[in-house]
Amino acid sequence: MKALQYDHTGVPREVLKLRELPLPDPGPGELRLQIAYAPIHPSDLNLIEGTYGTLAILPAIPGGEASARVDAVGEDVDGFSPGEAVLFKRRFGTWREFLCAPATDCHPLPEGIDLQQAAMLAINPATAWRMLEDLTPLRAGDWVLQNAANSAVGLSVIQLAKALAYRTCNLVRRAELVESLAALGADEVILDQTGAGKVIRERLGETTPVNLAFNAVGGDSALHLMNGLSPHGTLVTYGAMGRRPLTVPNGLLIFKGLHLRGFWLTDWLKSAAPGAVTELFEALTRLSKTGGLHLPVAGCFPLDQYEAALEAASGERRNGKILFKIDPELP
Ligand SMILES: NC(=O)c1ccc[n+]([C@@H]2O[C@H](COP(=O)([O-])OP(=O)(O)OC[C@H]3O[C@@H](n4cnc5c(N)ncnc54)[C@H](OP(=O)(O)O)[C@@H]3O)[C@@H](O)[C@H]2O)c1
Repeated sequence: MKALQYDHTGVPREVLKLRELPLPDPGPGELRLQIAYAPIHPSDLNLIEGTYGTLAILPAIPGGEASARVDAVGEDVDGFSPGEAVLFKRRFGTWREFLCAPATDCHPLPEGIDLQQAAMLAINPATAWRMLEDLTPLRAGDWVLQNAANSAVGLSVIQLAKALAYRTCNLVRRAELVESLAALGADEVILDQTGAGKVIRERLGETTPVNLAFNAVGGDSALHLMNGLSPHGTLVTYGAMGRRPLTVPNGLLIFKGLHLRGFWLTDWLKSAAPGAVTELFEALTRLSKTGGLHLPVAGCFPLDQYEAALEAASGERRNGKILFKIDPELP
């Protein structure tokens, strides 16, 4: 079987190699899965670069998530049959044709679900859902602020907030995205530029409480969110796309009493009860299947075109995810 693999960290296009590896056999309690689609996320690239929060054991196969179909069932596995579609509850390295995983780490997908959409559910929508649900109590009609609103997490926040009856105020750095985000259900879309914090307060009303903001950029963009928050609001940093640190004016902590914290899905998954993970994936697959959650795809590439795929994924101003289409039988 084919797999992408790296022996040392570095620039993804330089260190990744397409290799022929033996087809693995499922052990007791395991499934062999044929990967259908696997996305390329910033975190996948950061792991290969060696700049992520954890380091992979080398040699490593990248890929944080995927949709897959059961190809073979090991001994002592109940409840899964060949052909059934699944997603993974944790990272297995999905940029390959087949992998074996414990059945307990596989979440069955409902019949007829779109396998491209399913391949993108386990990380970004899961992060959006947990940040909306776990960090600050929100009630119907409450506002949530965010930057990088056209990222996969950002688009998930917009759609999940709508499903949960919250309102979103969204910062984007490209004017051409304002209409498409509004069409998706964004309540406000504002350009992420100097003075954006003031624009947020004017649009939402000076006295409207805004207690939660999600930051995936850092630098000035995070400051715009902090200026848009109400006193004692919480800024949650979960990404660092701008690669600039947070610079927090003292007054925002002393006089405005803002709370700053982070979120990492990996941490949540480590400590979550198995039932909570299943419940989360059931909610997300249900929404995906009924069209309440849809993430755009900017391109699909076979594994052997990985250099072109990486180039497309690294490009700025991309409208959607780049996916590896790994099962050649798929449309
Ligand atoms: N903490 C967690 O558990 C967790 C989980 C999931 C994701 N994340 C993080 O969340 C972030 C978004 O991930 P994703 O997969 O949703 O991203 P994505 O779909 O690949 O989108 C990338 C986003 O980043 C923006 N961007 C790129 N370079 C930028 C820069 N220099 N300054 C400002 N914005 C920039 C892009 O804007 P344009 O379209 O305008 O280029 C786009 O909105 C990443 O940092 C990722 O690692 C964290």
